Amino acid sequence: MKKIRIAIDGPASSGKSTVAKQLAQKLQYVYLDTGAMYRCMTLSLLEHHVDLTDETLVSEWIKKQKIEFITHDNQQSVLLNGENVTLAIREARVSKHVSLISSYKHVREELVRQQRAYIQQGGIIMDGRDIGTVVMPEAELKIFMVASAYERAKRRYQEHVQRGDYTQSVEEIQRQIEKRDYIDSTRLESPLTKANDAIEIDTTELNINQVVEKIMSYL
Ligand code: CDP
Repeated sequence: MKKIRIAIDGPASSGKSTVAKQLAQKLQYVYLDTGAMYRCMTLSLLEHHVDLTDETLVSEWIKKQKIEFITHDNQQSVLLNGENVTLAIREARVSKHVSLISSYKHVREELVRQQRAYIQQGGIIMDGRDIGTVVMPEAELKIFMVASAYERAKRRYQEHVQRGDYTQSVEEIQRQIEKRDYIDSTRLESPLTKANDAIEIDTTELNINQVVEKIMSYL
């Protein structure tokens, strides 16, 4: 089968990355988690106490950070300046600030430039907020995944529990993802929107396998 480019966008915790990873494995495609890149930059800024509200300083800082993705035993890890930050970028403090950082024009320009370097002729799956609209508008298949805020919060809560993290309730997580969705959808620079030619999938009532099968049927 001809290898194509697949763009998956949608709000926080809609299941994009889990589905994208499984699809990439099934199809033997490269998977790029663009949200992880914004998270890496946010973590780096927090660790170095850079003033997050200073857009100029933040934009200068992120240009000096190096992000790499490595795959080992079918598991993808992300390295920030050589350090494995796969778990650290999922911490609540990162989730809390990532939407501010990703609203900055020059931050987006730099990361989109890096993301585009991964696009080959085909055989790539990227997930994020602006993949079908800005990063890879030429993608042959575009999916826009949605789910109710409560369902998304429950899924994120389960992920926390699996890591032994009981610090946030489902309600708190729901408030946080709704706030993030609001910032992501209303920002000036490439806001979260469904591309005109994207197929919308509501995953509220579907499990991961069902979503993967649905997308496979569009291929
Ligand atoms: O996994 P989750 O749904 O929590 O989000 P993520 O994909 O890890 O993305 C984290 C944040 O990065 C989002 O809330 C956006 O603010 C930002 N982001 C973005 O602006 N553009 C992308 N292409 C990907 C993520």
